[in-house]
Amino acid sequence: MELASELKERIDLILVSLIEHSRTGKPALIVSHYDADGIASAAIMAKVFSQLSTPFHIRIVTQLDEALINELANAFKNYELFVFLDMGSGEKELISKRCKDKKVIIIDHHELTKESPSNGCIVELNPREFGINGDNEISSSGLVYLIARHLDVKNVKLAPLAIVGALGDLQDRGEKSRLISLNLAIAREGMAHNLIKEEISLRIFGLRSRPLVECLAKTFDPYIPGLSGNKMACYKFLKNIGIEPEANGSLRMFSSLKKEEVRTLVTNLVKYMLEAGLSSKDAESIVGYVYYILNEDPSTPLYDAREYSALLNACGRMGKYGLGIVLCLGVRGSALNEAIEVWEEYRNRLAKYLRLIHSRDIVEEYRELYVIRGDIVGMEERISGAIASITSGIFSEPKVIVVLAKSEREGFLKVSLRLPEMLKGKVDLGSIVHAISTEVGGSGGGHKVAAGASIPINKREEFIERLRDTLAGELL
Ligand code: C5P
Repeated sequence: MELASELKERIDLILVSLIEHSRTGKPALIVSHYDADGIASAAIMAKVFSQLSTPFHIRIVTQLDEALINELANAFKNYELFVFLDMGSGEKELISKRCKDKKVIIIDHHELTKESPSNGCIVELNPREFGINGDNEISSSGLVYLIARHLDVKNVKLAPLAIVGALGDLQDRGEKSRLISLNLAIAREGMAHNLIKEEISLRIFGLRSRPLVECLAKTFDPYIPGLSGNKMACYKFLKNIGIEPEANGSLRMFSSLKKEEVRTLVTNLVKYMLEAGLSSKDAESIVGYVYYILNEDPSTPLYDAREYSALLNACGRMGKYGLGIVLCLGVRGSALNEAIEVWEEYRNRLAKYLRLIHSRDIVEEYRELYVIRGDIVGMEERISGAIASITSGIFSEPKVIVVLAKSEREGFLKVSLRLPEMLKGKVDLGSIVHAISTEVGGSGGGHKVAAGASIPINKREEFIERLRDTLAGELL
């Protein structure tokens, strides 16, 4: 794989820093994000530290903010090296103020802040600094993989994990949901070593291992309104399109479908999704590139890299961080069974909230917004982002999605906001949310199309009103 020379130099610098630190024998702390990319990144870094015989701990967090940096500062005496993964590029100033004489490595693919740290304790690896798009060309797991592979070529065996992280961050933005650029180069490296197989297929959950009715009901990416999470509806859907869901008294597997039936299934699924209000891009994404991890058991979700990342994502969203990490480190057996149960529970929760949204029971509609009142039905903070992302693809009116959920912080609400496809480029949600949440005594921010905040419970109405006023002004 050919890398630009400046990027290579930075990877070198980080590796030298890691090797130098390993000579001290002192412990390091990995701080990483709770999503699939963050968990996969932490696991690859854990392998690197093991290979360097550096003692380490991993801390998985939902987000890096001032409160967490202050808390970590108290732990500074226990560690000589801090490695921030999938986060940190936006918080360099704060980190550098607190890190003083410690070494800090940041490996992140999110937006860079302009300010440079006031002391030289930080070494950063962010693709954006080298003109590489961190939204779709490489994620944090890919970056940590590049370091691991530079340390030892045998670490090419970690290429599947790098791909799992990138898919978790929805970096499959090429034609037919293919990986592109550095992500594709990493996948190709895996293919060359017989670790990964890429092919075009129907992107439905568990096609090789479960009855078709179950596969459809368990598919949440892409989300199929009315079918995802509803086995009975999937059974009826198949019957309606002329595919018999059962044969000889048992549910049929996908592999038993005739070619003609597969064609009927694909055509009708796309038609159904379009009629349910999904964009043609989302509907057509039901067919696309899949990435198989060849040394995993094909009957488990770990075989399909997207399912692997969905499993890690569920572990993260359900607060089972350690479980996600041990899976990435290669533990199977009861850990895998437990992760599958966690995933099942996560999907049940998603399905429950999406049903309430579908029936409009918890939806308040305004001219500029859909407000999903997850807070009144106990929606958990870590799930609100996923609900907001799914919902932004299923409402036909081009309005901002605002999901309210209970917060782990006493007296506060968690807010997740998403911009629908049709409003992209019209407003910068992250900066609007940053301003308004601060005005009402909370905190928040994010990206142009996806933002989040934490606001005082008694400021809910004021937050919504201010948001509506700002959007009404900007969307004119
Ligand atoms: O939690 P959720 O997925 O909705 O967050 C979307 C984005 O909003 C995050 O990636 C993060 O950049 C930002 N965010 C923030 N402050 C918060 C919550 C989220 O800046 N309190």
